[in-house]
Amino acid sequence: MKGIILAGGEATRLRPLTRVTSKQLLPIYNKPMIMYPLETLLKAEIRDILIIVAPDHAGDFLHLLGSGREFGAKFTYEVQDKPEGLSQAFIIGADFIGHDSVTLILGDNIFEDDFSQPIKSFKSGGQVFAKEVPDPERFGVVKFNEQMKAVTIQEKPQTFLSSYALTGLYIYDNRVVEVSKNVKPSARGELEITDIHNWYLKRGELKVDIVQGEWIDAGTFDSLLKANLLAAKKSKAPLN
Ligand code: DAU
Repeated sequence: MKGIILAGGEATRLRPLTRVTSKQLLPIYNKPMIMYPLETLLKAEIRDILIIVAPDHAGDFLHLLGSGREFGAKFTYEVQDKPEGLSQAFIIGADFIGHDSVTLILGDNIFEDDFSQPIKSFKSGGQVFAKEVPDPERFGVVKFNEQMKAVTIQEKPQTFLSSYALTGLYIYDNRVVEVSKNVKPSARGELEITDIHNWYLKRGELKVDIVQGEWIDAGTFDSLLKANLLAAKKSKAPLN
């Protein structure tokens, strides 16, 4: 199993913070944001990790994380020239992925859960993770039937579909490389990860599990604050 951390994008929503650095390098309590998704992959014993960054602060990621040796891992870096969509991670990462399966995690997603079990026991198809949220319209959304089997997946639905958001951790078998090459830009001009979910869903090969612990997409000022408070609580430091 290979790992990819997608840490590019322009993060215009977080300006002016992101005028001087990358979103994924902003501090979340006592360390830069990207270290949280990195720890999620390392905890699951993924040791071969590709870090995809935007051109602007690429050197700072290398300075922070280095070769990976310090973490008992091997890091490879790629630059995504333009933020053309999440699916592009598998195209940029095609050579790195080789013939393996891959876990993609977004560089601004912070999870409390340990994904060791699903990652280590993964065989084929796709596996994604949902969480009930009060603001599903901000995310990819999954609708379940009575048996909690996924039936529909839609990116940022304009009318209410379900309150289950799809979080930013995705496990896919090697077919994802070819599938991603056939994804067409959406109305908002991005290569959507949702199209990949739907490719597997249509074939009955997508497993959707529920995230038990906290999950934060730290892409807004409020979620950034929430992430800081959660990280402080987790490291048992006093909050005042
Ligand atoms: O956080 C989970 C959500 O992430 C999912 O529910 C959605 O299905 C998925 O599309 C995504 O939605 P977002 O609106 O949060 O995507 P955003 O454009 O904010 O990108 C997520 C992260 O990936 C962000 O840290 C920037 C990075 N990124 C984004 C794009 C589009 C890249 O590195 N390259 C890109 O091309």
